[in-house]
Amino acid sequence: MRKRLIAGNWKMNGSAAASRELVAGIVDGLGAAEGPETLVCPPFPYLAAVAAQAEGTPLAVGAQNVSEHASGAYTGETAPAMLVDVGCRYVIVGHSERRSLYGETSAQVAAKYAAAQSAGLTPILCVGESLAERESGATEDVVAEQLDAVLAHSGVASLAKAVVAYEPVWAIGTGRVATPEQAQDVHAFIRGRVADGDAGVAAGLRLLYGGSMKGDNAPGLLAMPDIDGGLIGGASLKAADFLAIVAAAATN
Ligand code: PGA
Repeated sequence: MRKRLIAGNWKMNGSAAASRELVAGIVDGLGAAEGPETLVCPPFPYLAAVAAQAEGTPLAVGAQNVSEHASGAYTGETAPAMLVDVGCRYVIVGHSERRSLYGETSAQVAAKYAAAQSAGLTPILCVGESLAERESGATEDVVAEQLDAVLAHSGVASLAKAVVAYEPVWAIGTGRVATPEQAQDVHAFIRGRVADGDAGVAAGLRLLYGGSMKGDNAPGLLAMPDIDGGLIGGASLKAADFLAIVAAAATN
C-alpha cells in the first residue's frame, strides 16, 4: 500500500508572519489521527523558520527548486545540501513554471533530480502537458520525454526514492481541474512506463496529481487507483483549504 502524500506548493506567496500562521494552522489541524503524509514547500527565505516550526510535528518541509550544482560560483542558486542543512526533506524539480518561465530543459531537470538525491533529498519530479499539446494528442509523448530524461540520467531504481507529480499545465491555477479519468489515464501511463523498467519500483511509486485540486474535487481524484496524493498550489495557502484535502486523502 502506497502512503498517500499531500504536498503544498506555496509558490512565491506569503510573508514570514503569514507562513508562521499557516504552518501553525496546518499542524493544529493535523492532530493525532493517522492520515496521509503532509508536506509544505515555502519560498526559500522562509524554509529554515518553517522547518524549525514543523520539527517534531508530522509536517515535512520541502523546497520549490534546487541547483544541479553542489557548490561554487552560481550566484542566486541554492545547493541541495543547503536545503538538507536547514531541514528540508523534499524538493520539487521541473515544475512547469520553472520549465516554461525559466527555460529549464528536461536534461537540466534530470540533473537537479540527481543532485537532490545525492544530497539525500526526495525529489518530486513534475511532468505535464500544455493545453496545445493535449489538444494535438501529444500528452503521452510529452510526459514520456520528461520522465525518460530522468530514467536515462538516474535509472529506474532511483524512482524508489522519488515522487512523481502529474500536473497538466492547463489545470494549474486555472480552476480547470482534470477529470479523475483524465488524470488516472496519465497516471496509469506513467506507472506503466516505469513498470517497463522495474515492476516493483512502479508498484511502490507515489504519483501525485496537481492542478486546481481543492477539497471538493479531491475525493474523486483520490479515488482513482493510480492517484496517490496531490501537489497543491492555491489551496495550500489557507490551512482550512489544505486540511480539507488532507481529510479527503485520509478517507478516499
Ligand atoms: P494549483 O497549482 O493547485 O494552484 O493549480 C498546482 C501547482 O502548480 O503545483
